[in-house]
Amino acid sequence: MKLKTTLMIMTAATALSTAALAQAPQLSATNIDEVINAMTLEEKAKLLVGGANNFFSEGAVVGSESSLVAGAAGTSPAIPRLGIPATVLTDGPAGVRIDPTRKGDSQTYYATGFPIGSCLASTWNTELVKAVGSAIGNETKELRCDVILGPGMNLHRNPLCGRNFEYYSEDPLLTGKIAAAYIQGVQQEGVGVSAKHFAVNSQETDRTSVDERLSQRAARELYLRGFEIAVRESDPWTIMASYNQVNGQYSMGNHDLLTSILRDDWGFKGIVMTDWIGIRQGLRTIDEVHAGNDLLEPGQEKQIQEIIDGVKSGQLSQADVDRNVRRMLEYVVKTPSFRKYPATNKPDLKGHAQITRQSACEGIVLLKNNGTLPWNFHPKALNGPLPSVRQSPVVKTVALFGESSYNFLSGGTGSGCVHTPYVVDMVEGLENAGIKSSQTLTDIYRKYKDYARLKFEAERHPSKWFQTEEMGQQKYPEIFFSPLAIGKEVSDADAAIITIGRQAGEGEDRNMTTEFNLSTDERQMIYDVCEAFHAAGKPVIIIINSGSVIETASWRDYPDAIICAWQPGEEGGNSLADILTGKVNPSGKLPMTWPIAAYDHPSTRNFPGSSTYGQEHDSLVTNHDEDIYVGYRYFDSFQKDVAYPFGYGLSYTTFEYSKPVVKLKGDQVEVSVTVRNSGSIKGKEVVEVYVTAPEGAIEKPAQELKAFGKTRELLPGESQVLTMLADRRLLTSLDEANSQWLGEAGQYTFRIGASSRDIRCTVQAKLPEYAEKVSNVLAPKQKLNLLKKN
Ligand code: BGC
Repeated sequence: MKLKTTLMIMTAATALSTAALAQAPQLSATNIDEVINAMTLEEKAKLLVGGANNFFSEGAVVGSESSLVAGAAGTSPAIPRLGIPATVLTDGPAGVRIDPTRKGDSQTYYATGFPIGSCLASTWNTELVKAVGSAIGNETKELRCDVILGPGMNLHRNPLCGRNFEYYSEDPLLTGKIAAAYIQGVQQEGVGVSAKHFAVNSQETDRTSVDERLSQRAARELYLRGFEIAVRESDPWTIMASYNQVNGQYSMGNHDLLTSILRDDWGFKGIVMTDWIGIRQGLRTIDEVHAGNDLLEPGQEKQIQEIIDGVKSGQLSQADVDRNVRRMLEYVVKTPSFRKYPATNKPDLKGHAQITRQSACEGIVLLKNNGTLPWNFHPKALNGPLPSVRQSPVVKTVALFGESSYNFLSGGTGSGCVHTPYVVDMVEGLENAGIKSSQTLTDIYRKYKDYARLKFEAERHPSKWFQTEEMGQQKYPEIFFSPLAIGKEVSDADAAIITIGRQAGEGEDRNMTTEFNLSTDERQMIYDVCEAFHAAGKPVIIIINSGSVIETASWRDYPDAIICAWQPGEEGGNSLADILTGKVNPSGKLPMTWPIAAYDHPSTRNFPGSSTYGQEHDSLVTNHDEDIYVGYRYFDSFQKDVAYPFGYGLSYTTFEYSKPVVKLKGDQVEVSVTVRNSGSIKGKEVVEVYVTAPEGAIEKPAQELKAFGKTRELLPGESQVLTMLADRRLLTSLDEANSQWLGEAGQYTFRIGASSRDIRCTVQAKLPEYAEKVSNVLAPKQKLNLLKKN
């Protein structure tokens, strides 16, 4: 009898739930309203809180879907009753960052390590970056993820920021255009991006609470402009709000930033998610929801309850919740998870290795060449007319110095690292190009690497969570070689290469003394190797294997050539060999100024801020007293010397610029110039258009980058007319007094050049006034001591 009753109850319950299920609408792209109407408040609250992740499990949402893809950063939650699947969010940005191996599974899940942000920006080639984005998007999809947490778009305010490697440039136009290309590439694969970290997150020190204080003008013209360009030109599916405060308010709960600027002024249609480390002190969940933060990551149970309680008590409006829920559903229906895309878990690692090798080659910047490079270059490689090519040095064996030659850094550390299947180091790369590395040095360094790794791990302070192999490749100290030992190498090798490596990433900024500057050992090594090899008439090349800028002015006169390789991805050694041997003619140019000393940047005075500014604060305060004078905007306006200027990079050939023309075409200014390869090796040239605006009511930098382009590969003697468009609405300054973008009427000078300090021709145009209203938000609460030119 008892059994019968139980059975009857069970049958009735099943019938009820089947009926409820049958009645519940199942999410589709066309029934979002219906689904919202059918959702309970609990379900709505749940949808707005992430499904927790693998790193921060304390207080995590119970029954989270974090196990969907091991090592992915997080998820958006599933609501099966309504046919809403979980979606998977993975880091980014230099490739998909998931666990390469899984317990009890013999398959591996490696992803391609692509060039870091600074290297991609150095290509100045939006088509190429789009192709890289598309390969990354494809891997995101094939590895069963829906969104890649990138591109990293914060401005290089200062060379000491630990995450500069993930970001693009000190210039907002270059940042915005490169990011838009990356986003278009990723999203054409049917997966999304999360452009991060919105906004003014240009330092790691105290990153989760620092108050970044700046003028409305600096915010709009510099720190937000790149995001604005990316939103307008590439429609990112998602944007990640940063941890820090902007003028006293956390970005994550900042209605002005997340709604007035992002959505009202720019027309952003996607979702905003928070950055990851849980909850900000003093910031209420309901304020985040109200501000327009649609997805709280990584997600904690108590946040769901706070949303429910907020609505019940009337502190959070139902309309705010419904608005965010709608945006979440609009996002979900676009995802591969919703489409039930059959991920293969087998990305095209071979094909993408070629893409990373080629794109790295275009981002590598030749800083100095006294004529030694390229090596072993045969004029036949020209594939065209054979003008007089000087004799290229024959190099069969190289003495490879520097720990990073053997422990070549493909990318940075922290969430921005990628678990790559391999990294081609300098030994392998040269070997593949037919150049041997000295056996003695190779043996010593390879043995040292194992020892150094063990020592590093043993001595690591537990708070340095990013100094583990899981968080990316680590950089070990250099070995000291006596002049006698170096002398021995001179007789065995035709040339020397010294790789100077630098590692940095999430969680810590770089220090000036040992990370920006060279250590005493490194300096000594450069000096001793140059002395010994030069005495025998043999060249020395320095390779900089770093995500960010280092000091060069004090030692750059010693070597014969200097190559900035950045952290160029897993094929690094091969890309460098392509450049060294002239298989690829370098065409990368610097996306940031290389100062003589870190202190030359005015921002260094308040980097990474101070705790003494804000007595009312527990956290650091960073005053942006340099205002709009960041990077070349400062160095060029104040006529300060630099080591290498913004936009600088050498080639094995030379280019002539002629016939500059400027035409007004509706809302755009068209600038064209004829570029001719006037040297003897085929190559590509990046052309930069700087604009000097007329003097007016608003003080302006001496010049600002407003357009750029890159030629196709030009044969010696060949020319191309390069046409570049400068958006009229970007030829403006923020008129704070009237809350508008203002392009004053008058004579504009278009300065067309090969770097910010190498202007080849100028052309002028009279432009009428341009004005565009913006929301009057984000004003600083305290007085700033802003730098002025006049
Ligand atoms: C980083 C983000 C990253 C996220 C997820 C955060 O700490 O700032 O860039 O996407 O973690 O790993």
